[in-house]
Amino acid sequence: MGVGAGHGKSILFGEHFVVYGLPSLAAGIDSETIARVSRIESSGWTLDDKRPEVPGYKKKKMDEQKESIENVFGFLNVDTSKQGIHIELGGDLICASGFGASAASCVSLARALNEEFDLGLDDVRINQAAYEGEKGYHGTPSGIDNTASTYGGLVWYVRDLSGGPPTFKPIKLENSIHLIIASTGITASTTEVVGDVKKKKETDPAWFDALAKEYNALVNDALDALKSTDLQKVGNLMNRNHELLQELTVSCKELDDLVSIARANGALGSKMTGTGRGGNMIAIAADESTRDKIAEALEKGGAAFVIKTSFGT
Ligand code: MEV
Repeated sequence: MGVGAGHGKSILFGEHFVVYGLPSLAAGIDSETIARVSRIESSGWTLDDKRPEVPGYKKKKMDEQKESIENVFGFLNVDTSKQGIHIELGGDLICASGFGASAASCVSLARALNEEFDLGLDDVRINQAAYEGEKGYHGTPSGIDNTASTYGGLVWYVRDLSGGPPTFKPIKLENSIHLIIASTGITASTTEVVGDVKKKKETDPAWFDALAKEYNALVNDALDALKSTDLQKVGNLMNRNHELLQELTVSCKELDDLVSIARANGALGSKMTGTGRGGNMIAIAADESTRDKIAEALEKGGAAFVIKTSFGT
């Protein structure tokens, strides 16, 4: 049996803008998906998906998941017509929009196949295999989710729009930062939301360019503020990033309400994260007791679930 793992992730800055070549900052989170693959007598592949989920997530993503798994097999030249494979997916990463659950499952599957078939792949190749898998979920992934899932930690990521390899670098901070992640419980379609932004951008390029220009300055300021541990500035920039995402029309009432609750309960900053129109929001806190207060308020305020974690070291 081959076993592999992939981290969940949270985008701190840059969802959607990253698709168009702007920099993004993402943090791997501790929760992960574990894949186990074993050889079976019959040809083809079977799946036992035991990952925890928000209701309806797996059903909604089932066709995309099938395409994604086949993309990973194809990229790794694993021919299931000759050697059948059973896949079991588990781990503690909850399948919910915004956690990079699709990327984590691609990374874990690539790693499990690597182990079972002795493919000798390093993380660069695992990340490439997972990127192919991500294409099953939406045709034009930026690659940030699979990169954060493969490497974990805090990463600065820039997609190469001409199709070359992305630029990414791990960032280590002096102190870890308290992060709260809350789920709306709504499963979003990344294909639809990314497609919608693309249409809006094509209809009004000047509108998009103005937002992108402001975002580009913002994310560079955010990197400096993170490095100099100016958490209030990081929080203010998160708040502004949320407004830019509202202008992109990818937030929704449920996300905006949770973002407001976090701020009212002492968050230094909060914003939606990931695809939007459902999925998750994040907030940062100065200390543990504020983090706990924010998490409790989000739970009471209607979040489907809340995770308390940290990033940066
Ligand atoms: C989804 O987690 C992040 C998006 O920016 C899409 C992508 O980067 O591929 C919305």
